[in-house]
Amino acid sequence: MTTAVNAENSATTAVTTTATAAASASDPEYALEIVDLCIDVDKHGERVPAVKNLTIRVKAGESHGLVGESGSGKSLTLRAVMGLFSKGAYYRSGCIRIGGHEVLGPDTPDYDPSMRGKGVSMVFQEPAVALNPIMKVGWQIVDAVREQEHLSRAEAKARAIELMASVGITNPEDRFDAYPFELSGGMRQRVMIAAAIACKPKVLLCDEPTTALDVTIQEQILDIFRAIAGSGTALLYVTHDLAVVSQLCETLSVIYHGAIVEEGTLRQVFDDPQDAYTRQLLSSTPYLKGSMKAAEKAAATETAAETTAATETKGE
Ligand SMILES: Nc1ncnc2c1ncn2[C@@H]1O[C@H](COP(=O)(O)OP(=O)(O)OP(=O)(O)O)[C@@H](O)[C@H]1O
Ligand SMILES: [Mg+2]
Repeated sequence: MTTAVNAENSATTAVTTTATAAASASDPEYALEIVDLCIDVDKHGERVPAVKNLTIRVKAGESHGLVGESGSGKSLTLRAVMGLFSKGAYYRSGCIRIGGHEVLGPDTPDYDPSMRGKGVSMVFQEPAVALNPIMKVGWQIVDAVREQEHLSRAEAKARAIELMASVGITNPEDRFDAYPFELSGGMRQRVMIAAAIACKPKVLLCDEPTTALDVTIQEQILDIFRAIAGSGTALLYVTHDLAVVSQLCETLSVIYHGAIVEEGTLRQVFDDPQDAYTRQLLSSTPYLKGSMKAAEKAAATETAAETTAATETKGE
């Protein structure tokens, strides 16, 4: 069922729901649980709410889209999951669990970084910022591999080359020794994805990773994310582009002014949006219909499941 949430109401229930978040037990079905998360930021000398009682749960192998306009709180949410609070941003309440393990919450207000790497990892929008400009890209992936696995330098290098090939970097042996500036934007993004998946994380966070890329390269990168989710990783994919969500995600949440205003499967939200802002988003994406790969796949799976169920019922 599609759930519409009243943004104003949820913003005003911050204090009471803190207790609920603390009390709510972890659900083993979900690789990532963000429950009633509240983040404040400094604005004009005041501390104001920027993420308001946000709840998102993602299962292993599921791709969940988080869509919303600029400044709505998408990056703040992802950075909270990684424990990366920049100056001027503060955790207030709520709870974040990775594989059932609380990394941020009433018991761990200082963020527990032990799940970074094998538990959770992130692909940023701009690889030029995330990659070290004076270090060969291959060694940056080796570093990511060796952070979690006790491999020799040679073994880690072999693993890095394997990872580079897995994200579509051609001639990985040669490109291993390239500096970031020697690679195209698409290749740099692949390097960052390879580093992010080096430890086979349970949860991969993606913050607009294809926004700076042209459409053909974007398609190829989305294929890589599809394969990553296919191997069991839970994907939380931030974008302002519903067309991208329609190509990649099975479920989505719509965020508006820091609060989730709608959530559901792609089909529920696209076919029957409950919230005015979601409807506005959908109507401003005219090229959506042509790219409903994930929605069509979900619909086909549902139809197949219904047919199988009907056949089984008849055969009983
Ligand atoms: N460290 C910070 N200090 C003060 N304000 C912040 C900080 N980080 C984010 N904000 C504010 O919080 C709000 C949400 O920011 P956030 O970066 O999460 O937006 P976003 O949804 O990712 O937007 P975009 O699509 O432009 O990336 C914005 O108003 C932003 O200015
Ligand atoms: Mg952002």
